[in-house]
Amino acid sequence: MPWIIKYRPKHINDVVNQDEAKQKLINWLKAWEEGKVEKKAILLHGPAGCGKTSLVEAIAKTFKYQLFEMNASDSRRKVDIERIAKAASQTAGIMGRRIILLDEVDGLDPRADAGGVEALIEVIKNTRNPIIMTANNPYQEHLRPLRDVAELVPMKRLSERDVITVLERICKSENLYCEPGALREIAKRSEGDLRSAINDLEAAAALNKKVTLDTVKAVSTYRNRVHAPWEALQKMFNSSYIFQAREAVTSTDLTHDEFITWINEHIPTYYENPEEMWRAYEALSRADIYLGRIVKTQNWDLLSYAIEMMGPGVAFARTAYKYRWKAFKMPEKIKLLAEAKKSREYREALAEVLASRLLTSKAIVKSDVIPYLRVIFTQNPAYAAKIVLGYKLPEELVKWLAGTRAKDVLSYVKKGKK
Ligand SMILES: Nc1ncnc2c1ncn2[C@@H]1O[C@H](COP(=O)(O)OP(=O)(O)O)[C@@H](O)[C@H]1O
Ligand SMILES: [Mg+2]
Repeated sequence: MPWIIKYRPKHINDVVNQDEAKQKLINWLKAWEEGKVEKKAILLHGPAGCGKTSLVEAIAKTFKYQLFEMNASDSRRKVDIERIAKAASQTAGIMGRRIILLDEVDGLDPRADAGGVEALIEVIKNTRNPIIMTANNPYQEHLRPLRDVAELVPMKRLSERDVITVLERICKSENLYCEPGALREIAKRSEGDLRSAINDLEAAAALNKKVTLDTVKAVSTYRNRVHAPWEALQKMFNSSYIFQAREAVTSTDLTHDEFITWINEHIPTYYENPEEMWRAYEALSRADIYLGRIVKTQNWDLLSYAIEMMGPGVAFARTAYKYRWKAFKMPEKIKLLAEAKKSREYREALAEVLASRLLTSKAIVKSDVIPYLRVIFTQNPAYAAKIVLGYKLPEELVKWLAGTRAKDVLSYVKKGKK
């Protein structure tokens, strides 16, 4: 049994340094018992490996609740949501009290499953049992509806000291001798993530019955932290060695296609010499060809060539090494995609407002009404202003419809209001 499972806290006292979150949960559960809760759900949030799942499980064990658990980023979500909805809607009976745990709700993918969040909201509205959700980052846009119905309870990133406390406990129970420096090193590298710390300890112990600083250094590489695109570009274009350029390419959470877009836009930023630029584009285009062939043939062996070309190939197109720091800029292509998305949102919002007022469908508004509005808003601002007032359209939408004439329309709106 992996240690991260074996050493899960069994009692809330085993959960280290999360006293505020503990107390809040306990008070809230008590309020539930007395039928006095304001919000029927809690959204417990904090960094990975700080004990979110463990805390809920430990509370259930300590206070003898049955735990109904669903991992929201699971692919079998539809079935699971039904199962959870059923469990949530039943009153506690002979089977005893229950807690519903919706783990990792930030794993819900709004594109793959548009109804996921709505389904959970329904469950929360109708629940007769306390619901606890967890998330690393609850502030993502698609989670807003969940934030509205739940009370947010934060958990802390664990300190090195906390991590060491838990590791020492494990060493004792495994009869493992550890150099103090070794545990400190693991704790430092974990950045408060106990899951990765416990995994590192287990890996070091598997190598050697005595955990030394050297074994720790051998098994626990600093986790490949995800880099922001501009950090990765900076590293890639300035790498001194082939392997650094290669690592930079794989250090972001972008797809290779997306990273190619970033590199593509930045070659002229980093290179001034036309020959260097030409060689860089040559390498990048080869990477693109390899990626295209992978898609066609599913031959993933080609991936290493693609990476070699887009990273080292581009970075070593230079004729001489010179450190180049360049200000980050967002690729035009990605900006355009973002604007297209924004535009879709505006169309959607406008259709929402107008469809009911015009007694027609949103689809008709989008296909037949909006194009006319666009003409009116760009050609006849005075008339456009009347429409704005009549339908109470927000300024944002006016700007979108009128484009460069937005100012004219808005000044007529001002006059009209007077
Ligand atoms: N505060 C804590 N006290 C004790 N053990 C913890 C704590 N936080 C995490 N752990 C341990 O780390 C592992 C991962 O914890 P988990 O609760 O799954 O983290 P999260 O859900 O926040 O990502 C578990 O094995 C657990 O035993
Ligand atoms: Mg968890």
